[in-house]
Amino acid sequence: MEKEKKNKRQSDKEPVLRIKDLHKGFGDLKILNGFNLELYEGENLVIMGKSGSGKSVMIKCLVGLMAPDKGSVEVLGKDINSLERPEMDHLRANIGFLFQGSALYDSMTVRENLEFPLRHHTRSLKEKDVEALVIEALKNVGLEHTLENRPAELSGGMQRRIALARALILKPKIILYDEPTTGLDPITAKEIIHLMMEIQTKYQTSSLIITHDVDCARVISNRMILLLEGINYAEGTFQELSTMEDTKVKAFFK
Ligand SMILES: Nc1ncnc2c1ncn2[C@@H]1O[C@H](COP(=O)(O)OP(=O)(O)OP(=O)(O)O)[C@@H](O)[C@H]1O
Ligand SMILES: [Mg+2]
Repeated sequence: MEKEKKNKRQSDKEPVLRIKDLHKGFGDLKILNGFNLELYEGENLVIMGKSGSGKSVMIKCLVGLMAPDKGSVEVLGKDINSLERPEMDHLRANIGFLFQGSALYDSMTVRENLEFPLRHHTRSLKEKDVEALVIEALKNVGLEHTLENRPAELSGGMQRRIALARALILKPKIILYDEPTTGLDPITAKEIIHLMMEIQTKYQTSSLIITHDVDCARVISNRMILLLEGINYAEGTFQELSTMEDTKVKAFFK
């Protein structure tokens, strides 16, 4: 009952992200075959799907790193395929992206890694403001002391936290997480999930979380979509999906 109310209220609002009928393939290989998604303000939407099902491809289409074969992507009410470069850049500043595997620049220090999006998107910032934002972002992930380190000097979990700090430094309205806990031990994975939830509360962001970590999905999701056979095969809360009778859905929760 409570949930019905919530869903109704959400469908009255405009989503911050909307993917409609997304198709994407590589040569004869069809990856996405009409995938749909709506992300509403303030929610944590988890996308689960097998390895190779097209989760990263989908997220790349979302931020304009890959062009869809067909279908539309709307971010904050704007169709990204219709945008010119400056507008697209502006929109991108509203989207934080935690790449699969962290993707820090190895040759740069932590400070330089964090400064990178600031300098790219906000050229007018003063030095002391840049410094303040970098420190704030590092404090959020509890790693102020690593400012002058290079990624190679940090553990995998620390690198992930730095990548998270970098994704958040522009205080984006939307955050996309591609496998935020993969490759981490269970305790570090829990810490990352905890951080993501803290940040969600602190900055009121809307998050799209790609994961095949069932524990992560259980803890963090308000709603979930299973990406299977190129489409949004099943949708619902963790509770709903994890108790479905469909054998393909069941396989995810074993
Ligand atoms: N640039 C590309 N050129 C050709 N094929 C690609 C390209 N990018 C992805 N693919 C193919 O698309 C399919 C989906 O890849 P994708 O990276 O989206 O999988 P995924 O669901 O994110 O998997 P994982 O859980 O392992 O990260 C794979 O078969 C992959 O080989
Ligand atoms: Mg992937």
